Amino acid sequence: MADYQTLRLEFNKPRPNVVTLTFDRPDALNALNSQVSSDLKAAIAEIENNISEVRAVVVTGEGSKSFVAGADIAEMVKLTPPEARSFLHDIQQTFTRFENLPIPVFAKINGYALGGGLEVALACDIRIASENAVIGLPEVSLGLIPAGGGTQRLTRLVGEGHSKYLIMTGARLNAQEAFRYGIVSKVVPQDNLDEELDKLLDKVLNHAPVAIGSAKFAIQASFNESLNSGLEIELDEAVRCFQTKDLREGMSAFLEKRKAEFTGK
Ligand code: CAA
Repeated sequence: MADYQTLRLEFNKPRPNVVTLTFDRPDALNALNSQVSSDLKAAIAEIENNISEVRAVVVTGEGSKSFVAGADIAEMVKLTPPEARSFLHDIQQTFTRFENLPIPVFAKINGYALGGGLEVALACDIRIASENAVIGLPEVSLGLIPAGGGTQRLTRLVGEGHSKYLIMTGARLNAQEAFRYGIVSKVVPQDNLDEELDKLLDKVLNHAPVAIGSAKFAIQASFNESLNSGLEIELDEAVRCFQTKDLREGMSAFLEKRKAEFTGK
């Protein structure tokens, strides 16, 4: 296991076959500096290397105040344009690797998710937030634009009009507002965040793992493909499901009025 300085990667937490990745720089509200970027790259590689043992990833921040308060401004202010390109390119690429994992990735947003913090959450599949969460892309207030995928993923999520509004005003949304925009799927009291995440894990992980992976892959394809090739990908993934024992089990269980026992095969 790699030695991480700025995050914790815990396998089998909060339950077997789930990995929790916690950004752990609470003194800087878990802001992303180059060390976090390098730790994150190693962490995602560790998850990828153990993917057969992992059914879901949970991404969160240490403490009760912040998920991730964005890229580290104290570090960024010193960057030359080529250094900025390298830092931001690394962040973009690493966030995309979360999106490409064949398993669901949950963002447990426990406070500030600003700038690069919201962008890492946008690369996750499902976002659940505590009531104290504050969400936004304030980069223009720093003379920058969102560059951890924010201009692309927020626009795909909420549409051009809302995205331009949120990015150009740098608005900070509270959790309920973020819910109304469709940026988070669930808002819960902070004290119940772990319990509600657990219920969400139950709901998703009780289903057939191959079907969940196929659904994620086909949905992702809708961003990169035309409708016709997206439909072809959807069809291929559905046929892949037909090749699994889990599909027989799921359909038989329905017909026999019993609970399905999925094995991931
Ligand atoms: N970078 C570096 N340090 C940060 C930080 C960041 N993004 N966010 C917070 N910190 C540090 C503060 O400097 C402070 O450190 P000190 O105690 O040493 O002074 C500590 O964390 C606590 O922060 P505050 O005292 O500011 O706490 P607060 O409760 O008053 O405010 C906040 C919280 C509203 C989140 C405020 O800290 C803030 O606005 N942070 C910056 C948010 C931001 O602009 N993020 C976007 C960054 S750019 C980006 O992300 C680019 C990209 O697209 C990848």
